[in-house]
Amino acid sequence: MPTPSLIDRIAAIKATNPDNLMARHFDPDYFAALPADRQTRLTRIIASGTEIPDSNMGAYAMAPDDYDTFAPMLDAMIRDFHAIPADTPISQPKDWDTGSQICDLGAIDPRLREVSMRVRVARNVASFPLPGAMDKADRIAFETMAATAFEALAEHPDFGGKYLSITPGSPHQIDDAEYTRRVAAHQMFKDMSNDRYLQVAGISNDWPHGRGMYISQAEDFLVWVGEEDHLRIMAMQTGGDLNALFARLHDGLTRLSALLPAFAVSDKYGAIASCPTNLGAGMRASLHIKLPKLTQAGQDLTRVTSAAKSLGLAVRGAGGEHSDAGQDGLVDISPSARLGVSEMQIMQRLYDGVAALWAMESAL
Ligand code: ARG
Repeated sequence: MPTPSLIDRIAAIKATNPDNLMARHFDPDYFAALPADRQTRLTRIIASGTEIPDSNMGAYAMAPDDYDTFAPMLDAMIRDFHAIPADTPISQPKDWDTGSQICDLGAIDPRLREVSMRVRVARNVASFPLPGAMDKADRIAFETMAATAFEALAEHPDFGGKYLSITPGSPHQIDDAEYTRRVAAHQMFKDMSNDRYLQVAGISNDWPHGRGMYISQAEDFLVWVGEEDHLRIMAMQTGGDLNALFARLHDGLTRLSALLPAFAVSDKYGAIASCPTNLGAGMRASLHIKLPKLTQAGQDLTRVTSAAKSLGLAVRGAGGEHSDAGQDGLVDISPSARLGVSEMQIMQRLYDGVAALWAMESAL
């Protein structure tokens, strides 16, 4: 049993990396009291946080029921990350009624019709292990099943399009040049085997087997297969009309759900995701907007980050997680909260927050 060294190691991380939520909430007594097989499971779940001390979360679930089984530890991390007070039960509301509020940024300022918007949800199929625990055969079986669902979806006139695989030998396989082009177009995901977190968690194992992407004819509805979650389902549009964006995602998600086995969901955690940061609606809604004045021409994100934070939004550079701001001050803005807020509330928060940031930018 690796217990004493693991416990010492996590105690050391807690001292050097106070923002590592795994280390912050690891309780040696809880761990020591678990039966051996559960200690082994939990050790694997928290491997990224122990191997990579500067993790922010530091854990990935390997099976949907990990969240219930290890709730005494994972709930503490989840509450901390999602800012859910100890006396409030963790629970996920569902409300896709996005037509009940009009969230059209173009009505605030016609220039906001140029923003590119994207909303994605993470979904995992209950009958498969989560990506960190899949073997190569699981990955390929999952992809084959998903490809069949996409063929059915493509028959609908609102969807069309095709499934593109990067699995060697797949009947849907695309060549390297097309893969590179799709990555550059921000449609396809990057080579996961370069991501340390995903490596340590086992999520990028067997790359590129079992990986691919469905893309609709209009290129406005996409589904990633075999990235951090079984499925990342997304809608992307330019134009500022958040209602249209969310309605497109909801329609595609509903149709796809009917073509696949049941997703792992719970009343408590919402959509089960590999990473505890993505629980809840499993949703990340973002838009790319140029804020040249607030960001000092993209040189300094301090001001926009603190303004955004008080609006419940997070700011990233436009190149994705851990990237810097683009020239022209192009930044990626998205509501931070995922768990405990409904889809409709996320849309509303993005709209209200961007409206407030735009007013600040325009006043400078
Ligand atoms: N595992 C990383 C950490 O703990 C990333 C967490 C959030 N990002 C993500 N893609 N799930 O810092």
